Amino acid sequence: MKKKYLLLCVLAFLVLPAWAQKARTVLNFDNNWLFNLGDVPNGQATDLDDAQWRKLNLPHDWSIEGEFSKDNPASPEGGALPGGIGWYRKTFTLPASDKNKLVYMAFDGVYQKSDVWINGHHLGFRPNGYISFQYAISPYLNYDKQPNVIAVKVDNSAQPNSRWYSGSGIYRNVWLVTVNKIAVDHWGTFVTTPTVTNKQATVNLQTAIKNYTGKPQQVTVVTTIFNAAGLEVTTKASTDITLQDTLATIHQDLKLSNPNLWSVERPYLYKVYTKVINNHSVVDEYETTLGVRYFDFDANKGFTLNGKSLKILGVCDHHDLGSLGAAINTRALERQLEILKAMGCNAIRTSHNPPAPELLDLTDKMGFIVMDEAFDCWQKGKKKYDYHLYFDEWHKRDLEDQVLRDRNHPSVIMWSIGNEIPQQSDSTGFRLAIELAGIVHSLDVTRPITAANNDPGTKNQIIKSGAVDLVGYNYHHNDLPNFHDRYPGKKFLGTETTSALETRGIYDMPSDSIRRWPVRRGTGKMNDDFTVSAYDNVSAPWGSTHEETWKVIKKYDFLSGMFIWTGFDYLGEPTPYSWPARSSYFGIVDLAGFPKDVYYMYQSEWTKTPVLHLLPHWNWQPGKAVDVWAYYNNADEVELYLNGKSLGKRTKTGDDLHVMWKVNYAPGTLKAVSRKHGNTVLITEVKTAGLPARIELSTDRRTIKADGTDLAFVTVKILDKDGNLVPNADNKVNFKLEGDAFIAGVDNGDPINHDPFKADWRKAYNGMALAIIQAKQKVGFVRLTATSNGLQAASTQIELIK
Ligand code: GAL
Repeated sequence: MKKKYLLLCVLAFLVLPAWAQKARTVLNFDNNWLFNLGDVPNGQATDLDDAQWRKLNLPHDWSIEGEFSKDNPASPEGGALPGGIGWYRKTFTLPASDKNKLVYMAFDGVYQKSDVWINGHHLGFRPNGYISFQYAISPYLNYDKQPNVIAVKVDNSAQPNSRWYSGSGIYRNVWLVTVNKIAVDHWGTFVTTPTVTNKQATVNLQTAIKNYTGKPQQVTVVTTIFNAAGLEVTTKASTDITLQDTLATIHQDLKLSNPNLWSVERPYLYKVYTKVINNHSVVDEYETTLGVRYFDFDANKGFTLNGKSLKILGVCDHHDLGSLGAAINTRALERQLEILKAMGCNAIRTSHNPPAPELLDLTDKMGFIVMDEAFDCWQKGKKKYDYHLYFDEWHKRDLEDQVLRDRNHPSVIMWSIGNEIPQQSDSTGFRLAIELAGIVHSLDVTRPITAANNDPGTKNQIIKSGAVDLVGYNYHHNDLPNFHDRYPGKKFLGTETTSALETRGIYDMPSDSIRRWPVRRGTGKMNDDFTVSAYDNVSAPWGSTHEETWKVIKKYDFLSGMFIWTGFDYLGEPTPYSWPARSSYFGIVDLAGFPKDVYYMYQSEWTKTPVLHLLPHWNWQPGKAVDVWAYYNNADEVELYLNGKSLGKRTKTGDDLHVMWKVNYAPGTLKAVSRKHGNTVLITEVKTAGLPARIELSTDRRTIKADGTDLAFVTVKILDKDGNLVPNADNKVNFKLEGDAFIAGVDNGDPINHDPFKADWRKAYNGMALAIIQAKQKVGFVRLTATSNGLQAASTQIELIK
């Protein structure tokens, strides 16, 4: 009989005895920490006077609160923000009833080199800033109103240790986990679907159960699968098992009839619910997400998901969230993914490290394929203080933890054991590739392994080792058509591509020659103002424009897909510039989340959304020769008009991805009309803007949750009196927020701006700025008002709900 899962939970809560309600608690442990920036001798001492420390809630990134300086040891490549040492402490109590339980403190990520103590007892050290870990703390705890002190030292002082902005601190969530002495182990389930057809799927569940009672125990494991509507679809109880050891693994096979398959278009999720029963009591309850899908990489046909060809249309992203820094915020991540999804992107590479667990929950739910990457270096480093210092001692543990944590996510489709590993070119790379692939495959044989190679030649030791299932190319787009001449019979993946460069809203003429650095034609110099033209015609020398690579990948089925460097701009690596530039130019979307023009090229190619996008803006010196580009789809032609006069029709031919007109600029209205079979599909206009006259505010959501973390992203535009965006406006905008919320960050996407991200003002950049409003925990209304000298003010209201 089918039951409502929800109803089941409610009933369980109402009628089951106390032991069942409390079989496992996973408590968010983010609130009410104390923080001290700078080292503290004996900062772990229980009796330390921390009364003067700053009170804050996690996740927290202290670097993002700092000031940009070219002298910060992270250097502009690392984001030019301060690092250092920080201490966190939290005092808490536990009920006497927890005495018979096992208690753990779980950290999703601390950057970096964390030491953790409970009540003065050192629990451990983790150098890797991206790895999740937990400590067993029961033996050192006090109960029943006696205080406990957890202390965390974070050491991000040895810099540079990263080629991008890392952030500093406990920048991901912390959890207090309480279980019985018989319980499912940490990351203790592994769900796979060894056989899948449209008619039936076999679901295999391995459950690792620990028994810390000190004596043999009899348990039964009951596994139930619920569908996305919360209805029970199948259940199975194991026979009685005697647990002798501290850890035992139980295998169960369940059958799903007519399974709903997980795909990028329809990311259908089941829930596997595990109940551990001992002496007629439910001693643990554990939930695992299940997505039923099958996939294949074929040397000739490329990638298929559930038997259907699918080009992997991916982007690489770093972990920072722009002005929020590295501090994880689920809504900020979700917004990034929404923006990418609307572009047609279907895959994410977690460059070059394990992501926040929330990212994978979102990619499961929203339908993205994930390449889950482990390392940016092995024993040979890229920066003086990077992970190479810890690799020998920690790589096995870190890689195992990553795979154990992430292997139940249906969105994770491949593992990457490293990016542009310097040891590609020496024999140690051969041996290590085999070792790392072995570690991954010892825990998961259901996914292929790749490595991202900047030298994909046949002397590459990682590829030569045979340890990787997919030959990963970074760049080399001109070599791709001949991939099989070099690697006959091998499977291809474009692990990293493109590295084109753009600044939103900047246009250099002429646009129709491709440049490998943003050098202005005729001058041999880069732009004095540290900008890069947003016509898609500038790239790093090792990369290509967006169009160049996409044209190749699009053409050949065996090229299973690509991960563009990058989806979003990120802090650090301001290639080709350095200070005063402090964030990247590679993004299809800028740091504030505003799309650059090339976003619409992808949207026109990768989605069915009707697109007719015109660039550039229409404010130039009269008589200037301006290149007008249009990205379009679903149409046979586009006709351009200037002030009502036709400038001709254009049609994409061959592998064209845009059309262009050379126009003698005159102020007024530029209008494009796309037509199919003579019928108008879309009309897009760009008008010459007058002087800045007013502010426009628009919020991504009018209603957010009063949960202390939810966000509203408010876009600020500087408009002229007729409502046109003023394309070069840089007015300073002041924000006033009334109500129970706060401004979590401000930005404008300008890679050389040094104003603080934590502020109640921002200058517009090329007409736009962003204010991020974060909820507190009270329901009600908040009002954001934006004012600027000489401009008509604007305000917007956001509702905070339960
Ligand atoms: C790649 C590297 C990325 C980034 C990119 C910039 O070689 O893997 O991390 O540095 O270049 O173009």
